[in-house]
Amino acid sequence: MADDRVDKGRRRFLTAATTGVGLVGGAFAATPFILSMAPSERAKAAGAPVEIDISKLEAGQMIREEWRGMPVWVLNRTQDMLDRLPKIEEWLADPESANSSQPEFAINEWRSLKPEILVLVGICTHLGCAPVENFAIGPGSGLGDDWPGGFFCPCHGSKFDLAGRVYKGVPAPDNLAVPPYRFLSDTVILVGEDGGAEA
Ligand code: FES
Repeated sequence: MADDRVDKGRRRFLTAATTGVGLVGGAFAATPFILSMAPSERAKAAGAPVEIDISKLEAGQMIREEWRGMPVWVLNRTQDMLDRLPKIEEWLADPESANSSQPEFAINEWRSLKPEILVLVGICTHLGCAPVENFAIGPGSGLGDDWPGGFFCPCHGSKFDLAGRVYKGVPAPDNLAVPPYRFLSDTVILVGEDGGAEA
């Protein structure tokens, strides 16, 4: 019995000691890696806001950036894309974005500060795969005759509209997240800082 207690105590000590060594080792291993980065890369790794230049982003185009290790998409929606948003609300699980992750300023019909500029975190809200954009309409999209353009997650088939709102009846439970962001100018977005209701 006494031996059993000693064994358990020894096991606990060894587990704690091993974990401690692992954490310390991990810190030493990470330090040279962080120090070897350029200052802007270090800031990004630490989660600093990221500037995105959209001066060359044509209507209908999307660019990808990274913030806090996550993909961030910026889509410049055409007027036609915007006009399609209210027409498909009955197909959506959360058209008002009541249960989704976004700054207060993005709880509107476009989920954005400026109607045409959509900023999303490109991570599926089901199990974290990377959805792909499919802006074609109808049969040419491969997603059905009535597909109005949007995003499709190839892992388990979740679909999102051109505001990142999730369709009903798919595995993903929530709309794609909108990160905090603000406009530094008409052509530069700062992702990582909430811009409030500015437009
Ligand atoms: S991870 Fe996207 S549908 Fe499952």
